Amino acid sequence: MVMTNFLQERKSVREYKGQSLSAKDMERVKNAVDKANTDYKAAQLSFHLYENGTIVAEKLQGKAGYGGVMVEAPHYVSMTIASKEEKDLLKAGYALESLNTDLVHMDLGTCWITVDNVEAELKKEVFGQDGENIDFLIALGYPKGKKLFEAESHSARMELKDFVFKDNFSTPLSLDDMENYGLLDVFSSVRYAPSHKNAQPWRFVLKDNKVNLYLVTGKEDSRSYIDLGIMMFYFKEMMKTMGADHEWQEEDGERVENCQLIASYSL
Ligand SMILES: Cc1cc2nc3c(=O)[nH]c(=O)nc-3n(C[C@H](O)[C@H](O)[C@H](O)COP(=O)(O)O)c2cc1C
Repeated sequence: MVMTNFLQERKSVREYKGQSLSAKDMERVKNAVDKANTDYKAAQLSFHLYENGTIVAEKLQGKAGYGGVMVEAPHYVSMTIASKEEKDLLKAGYALESLNTDLVHMDLGTCWITVDNVEAELKKEVFGQDGENIDFLIALGYPKGKKLFEAESHSARMELKDFVFKDNFSTPLSLDDMENYGLLDVFSSVRYAPSHKNAQPWRFVLKDNKVNLYLVTGKEDSRSYIDLGIMMFYFKEMMKTMGADHEWQEEDGERVENCQLIASYSL
């Protein structure tokens, strides 16, 4: 599926069929996890598949999930982060969403689960000795089917004019300009990226032929940097579909109004 449709249709899945993955699907998940371990080794990130999700779900009941209720999935994938520096959190968000995308492409349902506030001792009990460095999981399994005539539910997203600007934060980038720069599809799609509590803490300013990515400050925390990393992943993937394959450049964190510059992408 092309990235545009993929992003517009993706959503978090919090209800799963009770059954485990088939042997074939489990093999594909293991391969995707192995690949992520290879790809992100240099970034000191590691991923682990928990095949027996029941144990994880039982131990985390009341400690993580959605509104205090654990998202019960047949399997989970964890991400171990060696460093919590901001630039490393960006990479972590990028990496786990890249793996998450591979899982969704296998027609599996997935959902990010935040466990950064779970006590270190309990995390060690659930995930092993390295458990205290696990702050995020991906729940995965076959999604429970939608009932006939049940409406699609989508979490609301900001409008383009609220997060894409030209030169400064007072001027939204017009749809014509977006089209001229070949960015209309890109921004229309990346707005569906997931974020912690759907905060969407990203803002873009197009200036001097560069797309500058800002983080909204004030309520930011480590999760916000993960969200920005996820956005960097999808923006780059969307640009690839437009024929551009540039790298994000890290920026020095210049503050403008209530935003902090994180990275830039040259067009
Ligand atoms: C870093 C991060 C952490 C998240 N943590 C949780 C969580 O602990 N529990 C949960 O149910 N959803 C979690 N989510 C999913 C978001 O709530 C969801 O992506 C957002 O509300 C948008 O909805 P959608 O994914 O269905 O489009 C998390 C998402 C991200 C990116």
